Amino acid sequence: TKKHKVTIVGSGNWGSTIAKIIAENTKAHPELFEEDVQMWVYEEEVTIGKDSKHYDPSIGSSPQKLTHIINTYHENVKYLPNIKLPANIVANPSVVDAATNSTILIFNLPHQFIGRISKQLEGKILPYARGISCIKGVEVTESEISLFSEWIGEGLGIYCGALSGANIANEIAQEKWCETTIAYDPPPVDSRVATPTGPSPSSSSVNLTITPADAPHKDVLGRNSKVRLRAVPSDYPPLDHALFKTLFYRPYFHVRMVSDVAGVSLGGALKNIVALAAGFVDGRGWGDNAKAAVMRVGLLEMVQFGKEFFGQTVHAGTFTEESCGVADLITSCSGGRNFRCAKMAVERGVSVDEVEATELNGQKLQGTSTAKEVNSFLKARGREEGYPLFTAVLDILEGRNTVDDIPALLARVDDV
Ligand code: NAD
Ligand code: 13P
Repeated sequence: TKKHKVTIVGSGNWGSTIAKIIAENTKAHPELFEEDVQMWVYEEEVTIGKDSKHYDPSIGSSPQKLTHIINTYHENVKYLPNIKLPANIVANPSVVDAATNSTILIFNLPHQFIGRISKQLEGKILPYARGISCIKGVEVTESEISLFSEWIGEGLGIYCGALSGANIANEIAQEKWCETTIAYDPPPVDSRVATPTGPSPSSSSVNLTITPADAPHKDVLGRNSKVRLRAVPSDYPPLDHALFKTLFYRPYFHVRMVSDVAGVSLGGALKNIVALAAGFVDGRGWGDNAKAAVMRVGLLEMVQFGKEFFGQTVHAGTFTEESCGVADLITSCSGGRNFRCAKMAVERGVSVDEVEATELNGQKLQGTSTAKEVNSFLKARGREEGYPLFTAVLDILEGRNTVDDIPALLARVDDV
């Protein structure tokens, strides 16, 4: 049988941590996976500081390519410093080369960059590949909203599931225990385009009649999907829940597999807006009660958003019972970057963007752009008023309101 080749598209703080997990597992399961894991790196020149154990006086402060640093020292010194990466991670500056012949593609980069990268991959990947998106955010265009899992799948003509959870990357990279949620629920394969390689009993007679199983499947908004899912050739191990659990599970990274892709993706996107609000009130010095209050309202708005706009498939239980819901909300409002930067911004009297630029060493916040994107979607539907916390966060970011307005803004609507 063939082995699955895995590529990680992205190599930031979380991208590098997920690459570590995957590379440990591909090495542990040679019967299922090729050992080497390709990791696409957005190439940049990085200087290794004197405080790093990889500092080489003969190179001094001359910048080196990040891919070269990762492949030489097995450490992403810029985005995941002081964590030893497995030697079977291969850093590759070409996303097309990294993804060639991969049956499993893991998308893990800040959501603002996925559009351009995904375009480069169109037509260049195996048609029967499967994806998992670890991206927290939503794609909003002309008042339409999509989940990245869906949007990637539609763009590349593949199926893409979603991974999200209470997963602060630095803790996991140090192998501190946590949980995650993976949603994977592919529609039936299209038998007319199935099995592009390898003989199968029915492949000699191509059936052009559309049977119910071949009919376009519905996406999570009930729209007809244009993706005709190709079967994975039968000489590969099946790409099912058991296989994805094997690929991601570590003793320090427990995995629950579910089918609610919309719920998993939305939880990860929307909690970033709430984490900004938690940072605002904490930065204002209002303490834990105020933080708990915005978390409560935030969770209600998350569930309401899911039900209102993704009601066909989303389960409220995904928000309240799984790691990708309430647990991610709690961890993000305790130690996440959105929380920390919003708190610092209020304490220093500067903008969140300014704190992001000065404090994160190139890491990116997702909450600021998600607040804007979700608001433009709500505004287009005349539904801003129904989401007072989401709306307040954008108004504070853009200077129309201040943190002091939060209690009054949340009191205006008493049924959320
Ligand atoms: P990050 O915040 O570390 O961002 C830096 C990454 O962006 C680097 O890999 C950098 O090379 C890349 N980059 C910078 N400019 C770019 C450009 N112009 N084009 C393409 N790439 C560019 O990223 P991350 O923490 O790995 O986050 C990826 C996703 O994972 C996000 O959606 C985030 O919400 C989610 N996530 C993060 C964490 C965490 O703790 N870091 C945890 C769970 C989920
Ligand atoms: P931040 O991007 O705010 O750090 O959140 C990380 C996260 O998603 C934890 O689950």
